[in-house]
Amino acid sequence: MIAGPLVDEEGIIYMDVDPLVSVEERQILNINGYYSRFDIFNTPLRSCSPKKKHMRVNSMIGWDKILSRTFGKEVSTLYLAYIEELIENGVDREEVDAFLNEYSAPVGVIFNILMLSRSGMTIKKFKKSTEFLLSQRKAVEEILKEVEPSSKILDIGCGSGLLTCLIALKGFNIEGTDISDKALNVANKLAYKLGCNIGFTLFEGGHLPQQDTAFDYIIFNSSIHEIRDNDRLQVLREACRVLKRGGRFIIIDQEGVASFDAIKCDLLRTGLEMKTEQLLQPVFDHGKSSRILKWIYLKK
Ligand SMILES: C[S@@+](CC[C@H](N)C(=O)[O-])C[C@H]1O[C@@H](n2cnc3c(N)ncnc32)[C@H](O)[C@@H]1O
Repeated sequence: MIAGPLVDEEGIIYMDVDPLVSVEERQILNINGYYSRFDIFNTPLRSCSPKKKHMRVNSMIGWDKILSRTFGKEVSTLYLAYIEELIENGVDREEVDAFLNEYSAPVGVIFNILMLSRSGMTIKKFKKSTEFLLSQRKAVEEILKEVEPSSKILDIGCGSGLLTCLIALKGFNIEGTDISDKALNVANKLAYKLGCNIGFTLFEGGHLPQQDTAFDYIIFNSSIHEIRDNDRLQVLREACRVLKRGGRFIIIDQEGVASFDAIKCDLLRTGLEMKTEQLLQPVFDHGKSSRILKWIYLKK
């Protein structure tokens, strides 16, 4: 049947393959504890000359490596942190692996086709939108354009902490806060895996644990639209309390996914002044095509 794999210096795996092994069996090989279906990432098994006993099957690619190659190693690490969380909550590791290997490519294909057709975007724009949403690299770049070095930043609605970690890895002093303790569990795991020293706190009962005027910048990255209407003014007042005078809110969000008129009204009621509003790029998210904008508000 299948003998031990040979791996060359490029990480290409060569398998001894018995010609009687069915294609289905050849596609499921256990490498480094991951079951990989080698045909699902458009790299079909190639036939080999009978003389050469080793068949080139594929480079050593697992889903984490594919994520890393496409969206960056921090994104891949984030999804490893999610899996760790699932396992801690009782999901079986092998079941997760088998599920991902069986479903990722076919579901990815279906999602991509549906989203592409619903978005009405060109493939180039759709890829740019997906890169924006999944890698967070552009959002980080846009935020850091506004930020002075050695300032203190608070990321409100940080979720699972990818953007927070990416900013910390650039050498900035940043903390994260969120209303969801589940998201913060993942954020803490991600920060640990990436070697980031970040304090994540729970934004509970409308109160932040941080002291008055502790921060130079407050970030809301794709989070302000998620704050419930009834909670928003209190969240903004707390954010304003922990911001220094002359400090800024940097808000990045998708137009049309909440009432931005109501949000802007609450920002003004909090005593903030709008400095700039800038279009970043088109995206397809929340089931609609619209635009990502960046707003800067100043605490006078
Ligand atoms: C779409 S996620 C964005 C997460 C992260 N900023 C990012 O860009 O990946 C929105 C986050 O806002 C958080 N959120 C919603 N309401 C909140 C509130 N009242 N206070 C703090 N966080 C809140 C949610 O728990 C969620 O993690």
